[in-house]
Amino acid sequence: MSEQPDIAPLIELLGKTNRVTVLTGAGISAESGIPTFRGEDGLWRNYRAEELATPSAFSQDPKLVWEFYDWRRGIIASKETNPGHIVLAGWEKIFPEFYLITQNIDGFHFKAGSKNIVELHGNIWKLRCTEEGTITENHDSPLKEIPPHCPSCGALLRPHVVWFGESLFPSIIQQAYTLSAQCEVMFVIGTSAFVQPAASLPLRAVEMGAKVVEINIAPTPLTPYADFSLMGKSGEILPKIDKNLKREA
Ligand code: APR
Repeated sequence: MSEQPDIAPLIELLGKTNRVTVLTGAGISAESGIPTFRGEDGLWRNYRAEELATPSAFSQDPKLVWEFYDWRRGIIASKETNPGHIVLAGWEKIFPEFYLITQNIDGFHFKAGSKNIVELHGNIWKLRCTEEGTITENHDSPLKEIPPHCPSCGALLRPHVVWFGESLFPSIIQQAYTLSAQCEVMFVIGTSAFVQPAASLPLRAVEMGAKVVEINIAPTPLTPYADFSLMGKSGEILPKIDKNLKREA
């Protein structure tokens, strides 16, 4: 882990903080062995997002799109949460108002025990009926039928995720903006801070006077706005912060 800035000022700040909001991206699941999107071996380096993660790709070839998501579900099903996920789940008990906004669809924050979660981009373990809009949870890996069909109306089911070219659910993004505006400290962990509207959430927090803590293995467009920029792996840095927090408590 590269030479780290002294985290004592951060621990002191957290010691008197009640409202914490966290925004996570694919980087927090990288140490679990789940590929990120734009990293060295990122998904979008090897697969054309426009052919696999757009509404038009799905209408053209739902089988191909489902084969891709079934493959991703298989990878996620074979992996475990890491110390980064675990620490954040524990912080729900440490901070009076703690919320976690994630761009990840892997469901690992739930798996680690977090409860106060806003899933901005949906969840790969949820399927949505293209006719009725009903959402069901399905953890079969591999899926029994590709493409899967709605048990009640027989219509195609689609992954309950947000594809490129689609808007986020208004209630979800509204909740995320509110939690970003209300926090005293916002952690931004493992995201390239590139994809909107998620990338605007930390700026909303800055606007409202919150302190921003970025944890990433590399600088991002957000780094200049961060009050604390901790360069390194989240699965190593979060346990270190957690240990010091508990020592102070
Ligand atoms: N610890 C901390 N940060 C890490 C780690 C790690 N172990 N490994 C990688 N990172 C950082 C990378 O440096 C990069 O900044 O995580 C970030 C991952 O960026 P992306 O691959 O762009 O993923 P993300 O920001 O989550 O993408 C946003 O884009 O493709 C869409 O919908 C998809 O939710 C996704 C959105």
